[in-house]
Amino acid sequence: MKYTMPSWRSLLVMIALLVAGCVVSGAVQAHEGEDHTHPVIAVQPAEMYAPTAMPDRIVLTWNGDPRTSQAVNWRTSVEVTQGIAEIVEAEAGPYFPEKAVQVMATAEALKTNLNTAHFHSATFKNLKPGTVYAYRVGDGTNWTEWFQFRTASAKNEAFSFVYFGDAQNNLRSMWSRVIREAYRDAPKAAFLLHAGDLINTAESDAEWGEWFGAGAWLNAMIPSVPIPGNHEQARGEDGGRRLSHHWRPSFTLPTNGPDGLEESCYTLVYSNTLVIGMNSNTRQAEQAEWLERVLSENNSRWVVCTFHHPIYSTGKDRDNAELRALWKPIFDKYKVDLVLTGHDHTYGRTGLEVPATLSEQAERQAEAGSVAELRAVSTRVGDVNVAAGVQKVDEQTGTVYVVSVSGPKMYNHQRQDFMKRVAEDTQLYQIIHIDGDMLRFEARTAIGELYDAFELHKRDGKINKLVEIEPEVPEHLRPLEPVAAE
Ligand SMILES: [Fe+2]
Repeated sequence: MKYTMPSWRSLLVMIALLVAGCVVSGAVQAHEGEDHTHPVIAVQPAEMYAPTAMPDRIVLTWNGDPRTSQAVNWRTSVEVTQGIAEIVEAEAGPYFPEKAVQVMATAEALKTNLNTAHFHSATFKNLKPGTVYAYRVGDGTNWTEWFQFRTASAKNEAFSFVYFGDAQNNLRSMWSRVIREAYRDAPKAAFLLHAGDLINTAESDAEWGEWFGAGAWLNAMIPSVPIPGNHEQARGEDGGRRLSHHWRPSFTLPTNGPDGLEESCYTLVYSNTLVIGMNSNTRQAEQAEWLERVLSENNSRWVVCTFHHPIYSTGKDRDNAELRALWKPIFDKYKVDLVLTGHDHTYGRTGLEVPATLSEQAERQAEAGSVAELRAVSTRVGDVNVAAGVQKVDEQTGTVYVVSVSGPKMYNHQRQDFMKRVAEDTQLYQIIHIDGDMLRFEARTAIGELYDAFELHKRDGKINKLVEIEPEVPEHLRPLEPVAAE
């Protein structure tokens, strides 16, 4: 048998292949070995959201004047019976903690579906307006880091706030990016307004844990202004609906609403703006009376109202006619500037013209044959863009109504012609900037694109002037379903 020596070149190739083979097989073996010795186990909610002595779910809210007070809530395990907050005017240097003063918190135990925890609440009072404060919370042994917040100015300065429609689902995996992108756009926001359905299951401790985890330290730096949606309602012991047991221990909100609706129906004044939060889930007639009184006593230049159920629903068969009949005449009478809602899991924003009646709108929709046609027709009619059946601008009161959604649950839009801008399948946050007699509204997508924008300008003796601003992207809409032939 003839035998030839391999060349040096082929020997080198063989050695390289052998080495590569050893590395690959070694890697595979190591990986297989890991799988056998350390099986992956799903982390259970009870473990993931278990309270400890170290505070979590830290959130700033107000139950007083934002110029001089600030409330903070947090959660611990039940071993912590006395929560303590420390506060001091923040300084650029690191020695400010020496001057901090202590504020004792109140605690309440909450038994959830996963555990029992203590929820603590402390209120800082007699603060200086327009001042940066540092604070931390704990128990004397375990302390959080020092957080900072800024009290509202005494001089009615310009400010911004962020508004979120329903977060509700996949809060940890899919909503977190929205609140964090909003922070990147409006890091100096005065507050974060949540128009209900923060979570999906009223009494799910894991979902509340996800909601707080998504906002994380933002909630400890920027106050929240939440109102409850239908998903914060739970089945009560008497069979009726009641507010989630998590709501009041989690936040310290104003108690200036009707009796029994403390912290779910309330007002607060920030700079030149009256913010009215209402609980549209219940006792709507009683809240109408309260709203009338609040607005009759209002001295603020701007009025922003928020609640969960839309006055003009964007969804088919989701009309809230009773609510509209009760509350809209009051918004009209007092020329409320902006109404921010959720519930319909789409986006829809009106101009200043809205239908005289929704049945007229439905009739015209039926006559037009398709909503796409109706939208096209309505934008061609008249000098002021007003279709038949839509109140003319000079007969109107200047209120802009918005429905929005920030979480990933999405519905169909019925695409009414009086909606100036609509969206489906789009997670959004809104930044509202108020500067003297000008309000600028920006709806941005989860990736920061300007989706919708307008300005409102105050005019003495007249309704607001609405200035539409060109968005950066086309409308996001699902393809229309074909109309069945008769
Ligand atoms: Fe919802």
